[in-house]
Amino acid sequence: MSSAENYFITTPIFYVNDVPHIGHGYTEVATDVLARWNRQNGKNTWLLTGTDEHGQKILRTSIANSVSPKEWADKLVAEAWKPLLETITIQNDDFIRTTDERHETAVQKFLQKLKDDGFIYSGEYEGYYCVGCEEYKQPGDLLEGGEDFPGDKVCAIHTRPVEILKESNYFFRMSDFQQKLLDLYESRPEFIQPESVRNEIISFVKRGLDDLSISRASFDWGVKIPWDDSHVVYVWFDALLNYITATGWGSNEAEFAQRWPAIHIVGKDIARFHAVIWPAMLMAAGLEPPKRVFGHGWLLVGGEKMSKSKLTGIAPHEITDVFGSDAFRYYFMSAINFGQDGSFSWEDLAARYQAELANGFGNLASRVIAMVSRYCNDVVPAATEMNDADAVIVDTVTNAFGNANAAIDRLAIHDAISAVWTIVDALNLYITEQEPWVLAKDEANRDRLNTVLYTAVEGLRAIAVGLSPVMPLATAKLWDALGLAEALGGIADQHLSRAGQWGITPDGLRVSALDALFPRIEE
Ligand code: ME8
Ligand code: MG
Repeated sequence: MSSAENYFITTPIFYVNDVPHIGHGYTEVATDVLARWNRQNGKNTWLLTGTDEHGQKILRTSIANSVSPKEWADKLVAEAWKPLLETITIQNDDFIRTTDERHETAVQKFLQKLKDDGFIYSGEYEGYYCVGCEEYKQPGDLLEGGEDFPGDKVCAIHTRPVEILKESNYFFRMSDFQQKLLDLYESRPEFIQPESVRNEIISFVKRGLDDLSISRASFDWGVKIPWDDSHVVYVWFDALLNYITATGWGSNEAEFAQRWPAIHIVGKDIARFHAVIWPAMLMAAGLEPPKRVFGHGWLLVGGEKMSKSKLTGIAPHEITDVFGSDAFRYYFMSAINFGQDGSFSWEDLAARYQAELANGFGNLASRVIAMVSRYCNDVVPAATEMNDADAVIVDTVTNAFGNANAAIDRLAIHDAISAVWTIVDALNLYITEQEPWVLAKDEANRDRLNTVLYTAVEGLRAIAVGLSPVMPLATAKLWDALGLAEALGGIADQHLSRAGQWGITPDGLRVSALDALFPRIEE
């Protein structure tokens, strides 16, 4: 086993009641950018994603579609959820389904352990339940039904009536963990991010924790409780365990010891499950809590959270069909501060595509390569004496990577992109000011022309590496066109922690023609 530092990062496992929308794509891309960045830096990286297939929500969807829940899940996974990963170029290392046998077996083992250790008892649950959230609700979480649902209580998130449950269930002694959780949040301030989510969770836990009903007996689509097969495991208890069942807990202890703990990237809607219930479950089993729980913001449509249940979803392929997967990834990662909400609009996407990708980056790449072709017969020249203008580029590159690597460590993806983008801006300005096309008119300027073009190529090398976790396709094309693959190896192997050094590009490389990285989009 390698001694490299481990980097285990996860997305939520998504419900297969419907097809993905750009909100799910957003979480996948953010997680993938962080994974690629760290993988490129030589860490032993593992990106886990997957699907959440049990519970009443999926059962009801399958009934409405006249198929079994397993048939429904198989179809959605094959036709929608796995293809999503291709559509937006996700490089996941594993894909877990909660219907996988490896998962179901380990879930039962985990429950039995908690039972044997005294953390589970049988009791009566009486209260509200939202099937949309798959969550037990407190009266304070609910709204009055109003005109649409007179007399009913509705879920504040789904604005649909909640159900009233009265069942005998098994309970997890979550209340035992209130103080331990508060101690965890206190001793590890970075455990829950961003700050807004952390504060909300701390005040939630301070109000007191109830024990949690972890089984249901009124339907059977789920993992059977090992000591009582008239109950299935509560879908969230089942789902959260995916992070350890996929990495060997209960079956391959060496793998588990190597990977765990994880960084969980989730939407803020489900941060509470990950930062309260999940660490309590792990503590009960004597396992380490996660490394971090990051609850990112929501993509909004018309000021509201985009959602499957409200039919406001935009499918990721609607965007990638027009703009490509790199633009999808770049747009959501750069236009929204990771952690905050962001409104999606086609106008904003199209404007940024044109200004930033086509004009800012794409054009720069084409122009530099075209000048090396025209003025230097396709061969990257050697730099000679450097002046102050060149030194500005060198400094910009060094600072960009210092800042970008630090930003990624705090999961500030947008800051990492802005840091790299300082090179794009500086290089565009540099070329405008140095006017290589003027230098090329007089052979007496040959040394200066060579230095300017080398500086531009080396700057492009740095940009390509810095943007490769965000836009793996376009940057790989640029890498090949610059002739760097042969000299330095694949772009995915370039360390971002070292990419800020100057002079990595050897002179003498042969460039080849580059098609527009971001072609003009017809209306
Ligand atoms: O909650 N903006 O699955 P889910 C940004 N199965 N992200 C969004 C979004 C939006 N408008 N809408 C959804 C579940 N997401 C459980 C998870 S994990 C052990 C179990 C993303 O299909 C975001 O990541 O409802 C959110 O947390 C997740 O999809 C919810 O997906
Ligand atoms: Mg949801």
